[in-house]
Amino acid sequence: MDTLTIPRPDDWHLHLRDGEMLRAVAPHSAAVFGRAIVMPNLTPPVTTTEAALAYRERILDALPTGSPFQPLMTLYLTDQTPPGEMERAAAGGVHGIKLYPAGATTNSASGVTDLRRCEETLAAMEAAGLPLLVHGERVGDDIDIFDREAAFIDTVLLPLLARHPRLKVVLEHVTTAAGAELVTGDDPRLAGTFTPQHLLYDRNHLLAGGLRPHYYCMPILKRRRDREALLEAATSGHPRVFLGTDSAPHPRHSKESSCGCAGCYSAPIALPLYAEAFEAAGALERLEAFASRNGPAFYGLPVNEETITLERRETPVPVSYTAGNAELIPLRAGGTTAWRIAVSHSP
Ligand code: NCD
Ligand code: ZN
Ligand code: ZN
Repeated sequence: MDTLTIPRPDDWHLHLRDGEMLRAVAPHSAAVFGRAIVMPNLTPPVTTTEAALAYRERILDALPTGSPFQPLMTLYLTDQTPPGEMERAAAGGVHGIKLYPAGATTNSASGVTDLRRCEETLAAMEAAGLPLLVHGERVGDDIDIFDREAAFIDTVLLPLLARHPRLKVVLEHVTTAAGAELVTGDDPRLAGTFTPQHLLYDRNHLLAGGLRPHYYCMPILKRRRDREALLEAATSGHPRVFLGTDSAPHPRHSKESSCGCAGCYSAPIALPLYAEAFEAAGALERLEAFASRNGPAFYGLPVNEETITLERRETPVPVSYTAGNAELIPLRAGGTTAWRIAVSHSP
């Protein structure tokens, strides 16, 4: 198989930022994806429906003229989010509420310190049918960074699902064998997204033979055996695993620093990278469900009517992009991808 035509995919976990960065990166996602769940971890975070709708307008303004790309907005959950905001969010077209445990990742300082403080708001989310999208890491001085996801599953996620029987949850950017096993279980309320970097790379790529800051993201790349379990889960055909790039742009100087930011910029090459991962697993025919069908089914949205065609052709990855005065280094900068996007068609 040297070409593959699938319904236009969506990105169920994307950071678009704001201002000059937004204007630089939004066209990259809009060229490939039909819709994206847009993360709310701006500074200050997007905590109200009103702020989410204003952010949505700024995203639409940053798109190329005539682009049909649809940003799907989310709210940033804090200890203080009022339960009443959930009904406003659902009525205003917000698609999910994002849980950042305080201190877990980029711009998570205003995140939740203890989920028990959000019980009423979580109940309002259940009533409104709004899914909770989780950065699934438990932080604490006593928890090793490589164990944060497993600790979150055992001590936060499983008790949460037990306390809120109607709550829909997406475990975002699954990075461990434990996470992969959980989301491919039989709980219809629980789904998982998978990033290209966690399917293709492990911690050796980040740490062996030199420290590579552009492979540094949260949750951190894990062991090879975790990566193999993720690849098996993502390519399994399970209906609740789907594409979420977690493309997270940072200026080059913030990544190449004595205290560098977490986040990999993948938007322009994410789909070819997923094709590589699926091909390596001998599961190219399952890319369509993962990239284009399972996400809309979980979120209750239609599959995109347009199509996109991937072609097997070695294609260079730019060494950098420009974002205002800053430089932006993509994943696999200066390398090549085995696939490229050949054409995208209207219905
Ligand atoms: C993301 C970012 O930069 O906003 N960083 C990351 O390492 N993944 C935040 C997140 O998704 O955790
Ligand atoms: Zn995250
Ligand atoms: Zn993210």
